[in-house]
This record gives sequence, structure tokens and C-alpha cells, in this order.
Amino acid sequence: MKKFTCADDIGSMARAIELAKEVKANPYGDTALGRNKTLMAIFFNSSLRTRLSTQKAGMNLGMNVIVLDINQGAWKLETERGVIMDGDKPEHILEAIPVMGAYCDVIGVRAFAELKDKSQDYKEVILNQFIELSGRPVFSMEGATRHPLQSYADLVTIEEFKRTERPKVVLTWAPHPNPLPQAVANSFAEWMNRTDYEFVITHPHGYELAPEFVGGARVEYDVDKAYEGADFVYAKNWSAFADPNYGKVINKDRAWLVDERKMALTNNARFMHCLPVRRNMIVTDAVIESPESIVIPQAANRTVSAQAVIREMLREL
Ligand code: CP
Repeated sequence: MKKFTCADDIGSMARAIELAKEVKANPYGDTALGRNKTLMAIFFNSSLRTRLSTQKAGMNLGMNVIVLDINQGAWKLETERGVIMDGDKPEHILEAIPVMGAYCDVIGVRAFAELKDKSQDYKEVILNQFIELSGRPVFSMEGATRHPLQSYADLVTIEEFKRTERPKVVLTWAPHPNPLPQAVANSFAEWMNRTDYEFVITHPHGYELAPEFVGGARVEYDVDKAYEGADFVYAKNWSAFADPNYGKVINKDRAWLVDERKMALTNNARFMHCLPVRRNMIVTDAVIESPESIVIPQAANRTVSAQAVIREMLREL
């Protein structure tokens, strides 16, 4: 695998699940693949889970791991070509990327949407520059439009906790004080649409995701109807995608909070969230602390998804 930025890069969902099972069955069985190889994890944005799980995945594979926070200690990077660099950015990303590539064998990049210009965000400029210029296999640790390592871990978690062959999986928007990217929701929809699960997306009017991510999913604006009979409730906030409100918070309706009343409408659904989560904004204390909450095993599976992806990259070096 030369790049991992979307569901298609891993192949079928069946293959993704198989690879994850192999990693889980023998987490330290591939250290020969990673010996004397260096993983560089580059963060343009904050992280807890992605940073730690990707480092752990690299170490499980016997790799040396370098983590770089671009905004803390590295030179500030210019990303626009043609700019007269007389401002506060002393280095251009067009030199910085091949230099970083020279120090490692596999690269992970986190670069969120800025939520100012939809067409710029949806071009995935930074991720694509790394793919084009680093000379190394590149995987996304959350780009502007997708979070594929998260969605892969989500898929593995649903497979592990499902009680029926074809569970009903509901992605629900929930309120948040700040504008957040659509990446987690987009990506989750992309991966769920490749399974044979019953997949429903519910959100207030105005929060429609990009049509290419919604695909054939059922969109239900009546939140109670969406929850009825659900086996999994996956909560996430995202800002508006549709113009003219791209990147804005247009609703903070607390009726969308994941609470005990709505969870009682489900088929004793498991509760999922990618974390970090704002308690009593997105989900009540009672729901996230309930026996049906699987947010911790979901986060634990981030190591598995990262390791499965990096292992495929190492196999092709
Ligand atoms: N879920 C997730 O990507 O968490 P972090 O932002 O902490 O990495």
C-alpha cells in the first residue's frame, strides 16, 4: 500500500477486517518488517489517541518512531506557491516535505480542514502534497475530509460487538459549541456504506453531509425514528457543509444530545464516539458510563487499525 487516505485504499471491508484480526492475534509477530525502519508521524493539529496509538503501532512493528508537532518547535510553513515569503513563515512546505521524507520510511500526516474555504479543504492540499513530494508511503491521521484510521477502528469495533449479522448502525449529529470538520462523519459514512449493515444518518436540517459521502445511506431528520431499533448509536458533531454556511455552527439544539430517553428507543444499542467527547453536550454522563458504552475498546482499536495499515506499507517497501 502506497497511500491510505480513504476506504478504497485498503480494499474490501472483509479484507480490512481480516488484516485487523491478524494484527490482534499476533501484535508482535511482524517486528522483522519494521526493523531499522522509521515511522514519522507529523501533526499539524492536536491529538491524544492518534498520536499514542500510531506510535504504539509503529513500536509493535519494531519501528523507530519520530513524532513531529509542526506548530511546536518546527519552522512555520508556507503552503501557498508563488507567495513572496517576507512574513512569519521562514520555510516552504515544498522543501520541508521532501526533507522530512529523507529521514524516514513511512509517513503519517494529520492536517485538519480550516473550515474557511470548502473547495480548498476538499482538495486535501497538505495530504496530497505529502503523497506527491515525500517519496514515501503516506497515511492519513485525519485529513480535511476523512479520518480513515478512525473509521477502520470503528468498523473493527462494530464487528467485535455486533449481536446480529446485519446490525442497524445510526450516525447521529449532536451539538457542540465550536465548528468542527466533517471528516469523522464523512469517513464513517464512507466505510459504513461499504458494509451490508443497515446504515442511517440523522441530523438537523442544514447539516447534510457531502452527497459523495452520504451515498445510499438513509437520512432521517426525525431523531427518534432514527434511533428506533438501532444496534449501534455513533455520535459526532460536525459543522455545516452546505453553502452558504460551510464550516459554521447553525444549530445547538440540545434535543440532539444522546441521552437515556433516546437510547431507550434502541435495541439496547452500543454507544460509540471517536473521542474526545464533551460530556452533557454530545452525550450524557449516564449514557457514556453505561455498560453499553464501547468508547474505550473503540479507542483501543486505533492501535489495531494503524498497525494493520503500516504493516501493509512496510510489506511493499
Ligand atoms: N479520535 C481521535 O482521532 O482522537 P485524537 O484527536 O485525540 O487523536
